[in-house]
Parts: sequence; structure tokens; C-alpha cells
Amino acid sequence: MSEETLSNLLKEDRRFEPPAEIAEHANLRAEAYDRAAQDPEAFWAEQAERLSWDEKWDRVLDWDDRPFAKWFVGGRLNASYNCVDRHVEAGRGDKVALHWIGEPEDDTRDLTYAELKDEVSKAANALTELGVGTGDRVAIYLPMIAEAVIAMLACARIGAPHTVVFGGFSSEALSSRLVDCQAKVVITSDGGYRRGAAAALKPAVDEARAKSSAQGHTVEKVLVVRRTGQDVEWNDDVDVWWHDAVDAASTEHTPEAFDAEHPLYVMYTSGTTGKPKGILHTTGGYLTGTSYTHWAVFDLKPETDVYWCSADIGWVTGHSYMVYGPLANGATQVMYEGTPDSPERGRWWKIIQDYGVTIFYTAPTAIRSFMKQGREIPDRYDMSSLRILGSVGEPINPEAYIWYRQVIGGDRTPVVDTWWQTETGMIMISPLPGVTRGKPGSAMTPIPGVSAEVVNEAGDAVPNGSGGYLVLTAPWPSMLRTIWGDDERFIDTYWARFRDQGYYFAGDGAKKDDDGDIWVLGRVDDVMNVSGHRLSTTEIESALVSHPKVAEAAVVGAKDEDTGQAVCAFVILREEAGDGGEDIVAELRKHVRQEIGPIATPRQIMIVPELPKTRSGKIMRRLLKDVAEHREVGDVTTLADSSVMDMISEGIDSGKAED
Ligand code: WTA
Repeated sequence: MSEETLSNLLKEDRRFEPPAEIAEHANLRAEAYDRAAQDPEAFWAEQAERLSWDEKWDRVLDWDDRPFAKWFVGGRLNASYNCVDRHVEAGRGDKVALHWIGEPEDDTRDLTYAELKDEVSKAANALTELGVGTGDRVAIYLPMIAEAVIAMLACARIGAPHTVVFGGFSSEALSSRLVDCQAKVVITSDGGYRRGAAAALKPAVDEARAKSSAQGHTVEKVLVVRRTGQDVEWNDDVDVWWHDAVDAASTEHTPEAFDAEHPLYVMYTSGTTGKPKGILHTTGGYLTGTSYTHWAVFDLKPETDVYWCSADIGWVTGHSYMVYGPLANGATQVMYEGTPDSPERGRWWKIIQDYGVTIFYTAPTAIRSFMKQGREIPDRYDMSSLRILGSVGEPINPEAYIWYRQVIGGDRTPVVDTWWQTETGMIMISPLPGVTRGKPGSAMTPIPGVSAEVVNEAGDAVPNGSGGYLVLTAPWPSMLRTIWGDDERFIDTYWARFRDQGYYFAGDGAKKDDDGDIWVLGRVDDVMNVSGHRLSTTEIESALVSHPKVAEAAVVGAKDEDTGQAVCAFVILREEAGDGGEDIVAELRKHVRQEIGPIATPRQIMIVPELPKTRSGKIMRRLLKDVAEHREVGDVTTLADSSVMDMISEGIDSGKAED
């Protein structure tokens, strides 16, 4: 974000008081900030009491072996029991856990907590039958169907860490994850519905399995949900239908208690190198953090609220705020399979109206796309049930915030702009709806129990009114425990930058305004944020370079009105490839789609004769960003060859670039 936009942002002086009604009955009040700060461990112990433990912990936090934390040491619990059984035992078995809504109209399924318990138990029995034991990894590659939730909880129930791979990722991306975590079983479906059509998933699993075998890893079984009914290739040795294995299984299953630090799941996310990082979350701390934040930040009243988080289950938001947080809290929620505009543009708003949704959580990129379509569409629906709106994934610009509040929230609803990461597992910085005077564009302050700071290069807190790096200064229960199989990378990536202070470095830049409230500005490393999804510049560069015609590639995230940032690639072709041929740009875009997935497809590819590099050979992405954002190119004095930027500009003017 440029300095100019930044100062505009900080001039923002609109404030929104918490509505009296919400303030009066708020789950968490202003006193919690001080109470938590005075004795954080006591505060977290109090939050852990929200859960059912088979054995209570002896120690809240073991932080001796930094940065490897252990929370609720000695405690034992089962995450699936906490999300399902205990609500049934408490007499709430008839309460709806999931209002599942398929993309095709009238394709819906309500699951009560009692039904969910039966489904999860059956799936747990089926997985055991397939040979999955405690500690084995299970990959889940599913569309947004109820079985995705059931599968995750079934894994948790038997202590088999799951790794959910976003259904939009390619077979290549899937296979690299299968190999990295050595997944024994994959749970998938024939396909899913998107934009009115059935899109296949199973073929990608077949390919990924073959690719994994080529790398010496065998996926033993593939459990396949029938969703679309499309034809699938079948291998009797490996493939098993969900409806055969799960439907036949018993609804009786006794959940075993696991150690609080037992691995719950691995979620892959993009880092600054080409290889995605497997973020490891464990059981007790993660569930404590997600349950607490879901209750506090959304002020959840489980008896009356209908909650809806529009995130895909393949991302951390789907894990923390669709599965573990809300279900641990016994919430009733909506889960929607498809796209917002299918079969019509008002589909989301119709769902809010039909189901009486009271809390809605989505991403700024979605809000901006609705703004573009105009308020006439949401205005057709009665959304007066809404009381709290949430935003996540990228900075929300004040215009989008105001539109969200006014048009979707009828100017009644607080907007909670929640900052967090795959690594943090839970919301860290956010307004509290019953306490905070909201400022459009600011995530405000760390929530009670969390300690964050904005620091300079030396690790010192910056004064109000200044910017710097966002760090977390104390451990929190749902923090990542490591990067799967790579402790060194865990230390280097998050804990080396401010080693002396012992701070966790989030990779984001932020500014504190004159009141000390935090404005998150975005990544300061080579991670892009496209439509709220994290992508690594290096990962896309590696994908491009793996194409036979490409010699070198540099990728930058350029500002984009709709998606926040967009992928822009600069490519040097190999000499023998000549000019690459007429369709080179389309060919390369397709290649990236295949290597990673549609979300990584470059908006723009520019074929250039040279790339700007420093004398030590480092690509100067800053200059490429200037080009991609149509700005005058900045300071070029450190370039090894200062004529390069002219060559690039000329190359672009002469064609071979495509939007
Ligand atoms: C960005 C998604 C500004 C940030 C939960 C972070 C945000 C990255 C916000 C994590 C927000 C997330 N305001 N930026 N409210 N929320 N981000 O791991 O750059 O997919 O580091 O987790 O998204 O993305 P991730």
C-alpha cells in the first residue's frame, strides 16, 4: 500500500459505537482486556474450561523449549467428542448443527447434532476399517458438502490428522501435499457443483496418486463420495465408495481421549519459497482458541444465532470458523456448496433471508464484487436478521466496510475486521462487537489474551502514528506448533527475525494510528494475497520455469480493484523458443493453472527480454511492481544494468502482453 493511500486511510474519522443491545448482552466485555493481561495463563485456563476434558491439564503452558510450545500439558480430550457428542449428551441432539445448502436449488440437507454424531461415528468406523490408525494422515479433497465436515470430525475422532486440500487446487498441488505428509488415505468425491455445472474431482485424485507413486509414496485407499453422479474411473484395489463403506458402518463409536498436543491437522499454506508449508495444529490449544474466539468475536448466542461463514473448507477459515469453533460451541450454521452468483446474483442474500442468518463472515474481495454489481441486488432481500458481520483474509478498505455495514447490515450491524493467519489458528486482532468503537479499515486491537505489537527493524515498538512490522509478543494456545517435518524452517520463518525479543513475526506490515489502533497493511514478504488467498511469488515462478519454453520468470502481486492483488508475471523465454509462438501467453497461463490451480493463474503475463536485477543477482520485484501497477518506475540506481527497465517497457509496448 502506498504512503498516500495510507495517510488517506488514517484520516478516516468515522466511528461506529457498539449497538446498545449487543453491548448489554455481550459475551465478552471491556474488563476482559485487563484481566487477561494481568494473568494470561489463568485467562487461557478459563477459556479451556469451555471444553470437555477427559483429563485435566497439569500445566497451562510449557514455553521452556522455545519456540516449541506445549499448551494444557498432561490434558486429554477428543476434538470430535467436543464438537458433537457433548451437545447431544446435554440434550441438544435435536438442534440443527448444519443447514447444508447445495448449489442446485432445493438441494438441501439439515443435520442435527444427533445426526451429525451418527454420521461422524460411522465415518470413524469406516476409516478404521480401511486401516487408518491413530497418527496416520488422511487427505480430504472435497467440495463444500456435509461429508467434508463429517470426514474432518471422523479423522479427529480417531486421532488421524487430516490435511484438507482446497478443491480448486490441481492434481500437482494435491500430490505434493500427499507426499509431504505421507497421506495414507484420500477422501474425495466424484465432483461438485460450481456455477451450475458438475465439476469433476476424482480424476485429479487419480493423477495425484500416480504422481505420488512416482515419488515413492503410496496412497492406499481413496474413499469417494457420490455427489454429482458423473462417471468415474474405478480401481477396485484402491477406490471405495463412501456410501458402501460409511453407510454400512455402525453408529456406535467410542471416542478415545488424546493428549492435548496430539496433532489435529496439517494445513498447507504458501510461504516465501516454492514449497508450501504444512502448518501443524494440535488438539487442546487449537480447540480452546477457536472456541473462545468464535464465542467472543462473534458474540455467539448458540440458542438463537444462525451463523454463516462463507469460506471454503479448504482454507484455515473453514477449519477454525466453520468446523471446530462453531461446532465446539454448539452453534447452528449454514454451509453453502456453490458460488455466490448461482443460479442468480442474489443467492447469498436469499440464503440469509431464508435461514434467518444472524452472523455472517466473509472476505473483502467478495464484498467488493457485490459492490460492483450494485445495491439493487441485496436490496431485494430481507436481511434484518443479521446482527454481526465479519471480514477476514485481507485488509478491508473503508468503502467496502461502509457498504457492507450499510447495505448488507442495514446500518445496524458492527463489522468485525478480524486479522489472523493459518499459523495463528484463531482470530488475533479484531474489534469486539459489544465493546469496540469500530473504525472502517482498522482491525483495532489484539483481543483479550493476545499480545501483538508493531515494531521497527530493531524490534522496538513504534510510537503511535507510525508503521512497522506486526509481531505477536506472547504465545497463544492455537499457535502453530511447527511446520510438518521441518522444525528448522519453522524457526527460520517465524522466530528468527526477532530472535532476541522472542517475537513471532507475522510477515505483515502494520501501522498504529494516533489512538494506538492497528491498521494491517499487507504482506512485507514475497507472499501475495489474491482474493484473500495466499499465494507465493516463488511458487508461481517455479511453475512458470517448469514450462519448456521459459528461461526465467519473476512474479509480483499488483494492486487489483477486485481481488486486492493480482498475479503479474514477467517471463524471459529460452532462446530456442524464439518468440514463443502466437499463443504463448495463453499456454503459460494454462500451465500455471495445471501446476497449481486456477487461483494462481496470472492476470497478466509479459514476455520480456531481461529482468531487473541487483548486482548480486536478486530480482528487483519492486520495479516490476511499478510496471505492473502502471506507475513511474522508482529508483533504479541499484540495478546492475540500468537500461533493463527501458527494454522491459519497450517490450511491453510492442505487444506480447495480455490482460
Ligand atoms: C492477511 C487467513 C488485513 C494477512 C485467515 C495475513 C489480513 C494473511 C486480515 C493470512 C485482515 C488476514 N486485515 N490482512 N483482517 N486477515 N489478512 O493464512 O496478510 O490465508 O498474513 O489466513 O492474510 O492469510 P491466511
